[in-house]
Amino acid sequence: MTTSTAFPHLFDSLTIGPLSLRNRTILAPMCMYSITEHDGVPGSWHQVHLGARAAGGFGMVVAEATAVSPEARISPADVGLWNDTQRDAWAPIVETIRSYGALPAVQLAHAGAKASTEPGLPGYTGASVGIDDDGWQTVSPSGINPVSGLAETRELSTEQVRQVVADFVDAARRADEAGFEAVMIHAAHGYLIHQFLSPVTNQRTDEYGGSVENRTRLLREILAEVRAVWPAEKILGLRISGSDYVEGSWSLDDSAELIAGLVDTPQARAQYGLDWVDVSSGGIGDTYRGPSGPGYQLHLAERIHRVAEATRDSERPLTVSAVGIITEPGQAQQIVLSGQADAVSIGRAALADPNWPARASVELRPNSEIPFPPQYHRAQRAL
Ligand SMILES: Cc1cc2nc3c(=O)[nH]c(=O)nc-3n(C[C@H](O)[C@H](O)[C@H](O)COP(=O)(O)O)c2cc1C
Repeated sequence: MTTSTAFPHLFDSLTIGPLSLRNRTILAPMCMYSITEHDGVPGSWHQVHLGARAAGGFGMVVAEATAVSPEARISPADVGLWNDTQRDAWAPIVETIRSYGALPAVQLAHAGAKASTEPGLPGYTGASVGIDDDGWQTVSPSGINPVSGLAETRELSTEQVRQVVADFVDAARRADEAGFEAVMIHAAHGYLIHQFLSPVTNQRTDEYGGSVENRTRLLREILAEVRAVWPAEKILGLRISGSDYVEGSWSLDDSAELIAGLVDTPQARAQYGLDWVDVSSGGIGDTYRGPSGPGYQLHLAERIHRVAEATRDSERPLTVSAVGIITEPGQAQQIVLSGQADAVSIGRAALADPNWPARASVELRPNSEIPFPPQYHRAQRAL
């Protein structure tokens, strides 16, 4: 088993926490906005979409932002894990992912003030959906929207914040029952947890606002309480916006300090049990102010990877994955070889090509087994 060799290869296996991926490619979570019944129950689209990418060779397949409560959805067409019907509908999808060799993971999410919007599909603008139109009253740390133009949002009471933690815990329990082997807590992209992290959107005066300690409390409580119900033999992950590039909001230094605090003592390791961080960016403010182009978020992952170095010799080192316009096999290989990150998450390139890893493996010629489905082996001659 390869965790960190001197010269890691994209197609070396990777140990994350207690489990192993067949290679270092991860399907990034991507909303499909495909639930026409608006009941959060995944269906045949998810089976086909996620199953195809497992068959296409990904080491881990992360199902999209999955709402922990009805009001946590970005749009009425989102999936959820707030009831047992949804759990039971996920179970065969999870089994399909596993049966094609990928580790099944799910991203648990709450959109907060950015909820109740139109689906991100052609023909829609992403505007708020009215309460009379299958939408709902959105909630947030301080009644402040992280982007303009959305419907008015309501401040959560302290008691309601505690309920959000409980909703994440319940959803994690159902994710376990459905067979998922990893959960990723969505703390990025200007959604609810990120809204709590940023002083721009969090101006609370209770124990969830003010100091860094208080603004990170919701996330730390979610991690600790999810870890308490999430089996030790499964992976607990987190997605952060390494920076949102808004002055006075959430910076790379804040992220580095947050992650260090989650892993730097044996007590913190035991309390949060964080195995994996995927480093994205943005989500607060109307325009994205960060760099653009291939690997545009890599510097953020690299910094967090350096923080994770402190855990290298521990029993359960923290794994860091990079994401963002990683489209070329050589580029992905360079990222893991140079130690910028342990793994790469692939988003849009995997929408374009479900077999992205299989194709990349042919190009990169690893010594290890390539993840080409036997049924497709003759395709290699076509590449
Ligand atoms: C259609 C679509 C849906 C997305 N949905 C999610 C999501 O559910 N959760 C999330 O954290 N990021 C989401 N993202 C962001 C991706 O996970 C990824 O971080 C981003 O697309 C950058 O990676 P890429 O350049 O490889 O696409 C989505 C992106 C796309 C294109």
